[in-house]
Amino acid sequence: MAKVYFVREEISIEIPVGTSVLEAEIQAGLAPDVPCGGQGTCGKCLVKVDGKPVLACQTKVEKDCQVEIPGKKNRGKILSEGFSRKVNFQPELQVKTVWLEKPETGEKKSEWERLVEDVYGISNNKRTSDVDYGCIKTDVKLAGSLYEKRSFNPEWQVAYTDEEILDLRPIVGVHEDSVHGVNSSGEKGDGIFTAAIDLGTTTIVGYLLDGRTGENLAVESRMNPQMQYGGDVIQRANYALEHGTETLSKCVQKTINKILESLIVKTQKAPKIASGRKKVNDQTVNGKTKSAEWMPGVEDIYQVSLVGNTCMHHLFLGIYPASLAHAPYTPAISQSLTLRAADYGIHIHPKGQLLLLPNIAGYIGADTSGCLLALRQDLKDEITLMLDIGTNTEMILGNKYGLAACSAASGPAFEGAKIQCGMRGLPGAIDHVKYEDGKWQYTTIGGEKPVGLCGSGLIDLVAELLRAGLLEENGILHSGQERSDTFMLVPPQETVFAQCEQNMSEDAQSEKTECLQRNEKNGSGQSRFENDCGVYLTQKDIGEVQLAKAAIAAGIQLLLKKRSIEESQIQTVYLAGGFGNYMSAENAARIGLIPESFVKKVQCVGNIAGEGAKIALLNKNERHEIENAVRNMEFLELAACPEFQDCFVDELGFER
Ligand code: FES
Repeated sequence: MAKVYFVREEISIEIPVGTSVLEAEIQAGLAPDVPCGGQGTCGKCLVKVDGKPVLACQTKVEKDCQVEIPGKKNRGKILSEGFSRKVNFQPELQVKTVWLEKPETGEKKSEWERLVEDVYGISNNKRTSDVDYGCIKTDVKLAGSLYEKRSFNPEWQVAYTDEEILDLRPIVGVHEDSVHGVNSSGEKGDGIFTAAIDLGTTTIVGYLLDGRTGENLAVESRMNPQMQYGGDVIQRANYALEHGTETLSKCVQKTINKILESLIVKTQKAPKIASGRKKVNDQTVNGKTKSAEWMPGVEDIYQVSLVGNTCMHHLFLGIYPASLAHAPYTPAISQSLTLRAADYGIHIHPKGQLLLLPNIAGYIGADTSGCLLALRQDLKDEITLMLDIGTNTEMILGNKYGLAACSAASGPAFEGAKIQCGMRGLPGAIDHVKYEDGKWQYTTIGGEKPVGLCGSGLIDLVAELLRAGLLEENGILHSGQERSDTFMLVPPQETVFAQCEQNMSEDAQSEKTECLQRNEKNGSGQSRFENDCGVYLTQKDIGEVQLAKAAIAAGIQLLLKKRSIEESQIQTVYLAGGFGNYMSAENAARIGLIPESFVKKVQCVGNIAGEGAKIALLNKNERHEIENAVRNMEFLELAACPEFQDCFVDELGFER
């Protein structure tokens, strides 16, 4: 094992020797920018290990070391919240107090039958609930323990679903293994939790909910560790096709478990965050004194609902993604699923369930179903359009009379990849740009020295260049009079790299010179950390922006056509996801990413996929309704659409 100390973040972790520095960053909960997915080609993961500049993805930790990452703190802010609406609390996971009464002598019913009747409200052989008695799974082990449980303590709390009793836990008294929340006056303590997971290609966000009330208790996020095997879903699917799915499934399952543990720790730290958490007196069981205060653990989580794009969904489940990597790009599974969490490496209650929303198509996954569940476009009279802009831009258009969805291959430009000075929305990323009174102004995330351009900054810069007359409508950059290949927004010496250089020791300076010479020799990717070149935009970058925005704009036009809807009929345009939240709608329209008529209709809704995952836990009916809505939804495959090429070419320019 070796100790890695991240200097600026003041974080220390221990990892096995031979682990890559990139993996160490991910394990430390940092958010490295790795657009090439650890292929060693983008040069954006550059760090200093013991003062020596190296690519984090290509460097293994051999001994204890110190790692310095450019920028003040590498811990990026992950957007975890989204638009939320009031949801009726009718969960699939229910909690009830039952009395395990001693039967009369001569009672014909078994212990198990009497428990089932009690829990599901079935009396005198008549069903009083809409539960099919015959469908309730018999838990042989639990049935066998009922006699003993009854003698031990008559009052129990039961966690159950329509099909299954998940747990029986004592309300007053001491459980065989643990002390559950009780106090001397017998007040009920409980710790029944559910968790929603938004499994994104870049980040994973987890939310902990109180299983009894649906209350939001805590949120936690981490980078998706799969990014070291590929920056986007195509690279990851290819990795899985070449090396199998196990590595990708296992690393993501491990991270989800870490998120669940952190969520539970957060509830332990908060003074009274979980309803019913009480301080109780110490109790002695079998001669051993147990800590009296009930502390929740991951085994108190009974349901986890998970959303992710189709590739993330498949890789998480260990499904070989061949059908996604090759035409006609169909998912292996699209229906919603209820699975045993333990079977998929998720460590919660041993009988805990894993709920997955339906996938819509090969490139429109359960995360988009989550967005739909959060927005319920399928219930609205008004026509709405939801756009979730990313490497693939998913969109859903329509209303209660019908919905259509498509996915546009917009590429990673707005996520910072393929753009020379591009980066994700991390501290130091230029997020807004303005040209005013002949001067260029910008802001950065966290107010730090500029590192590069994130998606919203990139859109602003292109829009302002158009306004300033430095970018022609055909996409040609020029410097006033003549054509120019580059536009310098932040000159060298004003970026964070200049600051890094000043702080470099003499040794590191000479290492830097060597490294630069080496890079020059072998032609490896540019390294802005080693060589402060400022923050700039190139002609090639503008080409990438044109491809991205044309794919999205063409998708919108063809989806409108599919549903025979005019732009003017759309009443609200929901922009989902982190990028949508920071993007200027006006500038997006200026560069032709969205139609001009949408500007006043835009509503940024944040991470609604995660909200959808929460709603799946809060209301079982809504979860089932979304399944129907997805089944009835029309799907437009842009790649197979004959008009796509013409439409895409029409949208490439910046004409208005
Ligand atoms: Fe290391 Fe791209 S992630 S070079």
